[in-house]
Amino acid sequence: MAPDLAAYARDGFLVLEGFVPLEDCDALQARAAVLVAAFNPGPARAVFSARDQGHARDRYFQESGGAVRFFFEEAATDQPVALALNKIGHALHDRDPVFDRFSRQPRLAELARALGFAQPLLLQSMYLFKQPRIGAEVGWHQDAAYLNTRPSTVTGFWVALDDADRNNGCLMALPGAHRGPLRERFLRDDGRMVTRCLDTTPWPDIVPVALEARRGTLVVLHGLLPHASAPNRSSRARHAYALHLIDGRADYPADNWLQRPDLPLRGFA
Ligand code: FE2
Repeated sequence: MAPDLAAYARDGFLVLEGFVPLEDCDALQARAAVLVAAFNPGPARAVFSARDQGHARDRYFQESGGAVRFFFEEAATDQPVALALNKIGHALHDRDPVFDRFSRQPRLAELARALGFAQPLLLQSMYLFKQPRIGAEVGWHQDAAYLNTRPSTVTGFWVALDDADRNNGCLMALPGAHRGPLRERFLRDDGRMVTRCLDTTPWPDIVPVALEARRGTLVVLHGLLPHASAPNRSSRARHAYALHLIDGRADYPADNWLQRPDLPLRGFA
């Protein structure tokens, strides 16, 4: 079915319930479990923690754009690894055959085409855990702050792998606010990661909507849409898979945090 482009232009998001077959959700969750089981942080676990501001941790993140890397929840203490991770990123779609196949399926290519992509490039993928009880809040942001092209083309395909609702930290969004300016950029500056303010316009004073999503729902997120998610205080996991596309017609500035010197960007082919 063709996406509702008028609603997308109006709201900056689309919620496509049932877009992903539940067997595909099963397959992605099973594959993530295999990757996690094979990941051994060993005694260096602290290196991967957001609390550790060390050089090794910075490099682990900075080089993750072309790799499959594991990031812990800040609140994780004595949980086993499988219940302590915040996410896996950021090139699952290029480095792992299961995520590659899912991410490059013809239906996603067709969705991108329908949204106006002429030269879609699969830039970033993340497996998001939002663990029971410790899954952290994600503050209000625009994805174009992290994945920047000129003009802005970044678009998110966010797939609910578990039912996501207000109790376990579903996506929240400010409908229509994608028509506002890009507020900031997170970028590389002389080898360091910095956040630079571009525009001090506050988020519009509108009531956020909860994008509750049953398992198998695909949410399309415009790159300029302010969105967030609350912490997961529930006992239920809220796994999701997020894929970010850019259009190859746009310029991808060299100061983007995500660089892949050894891994050329590819589209759906
Ligand atoms: Fe985001």
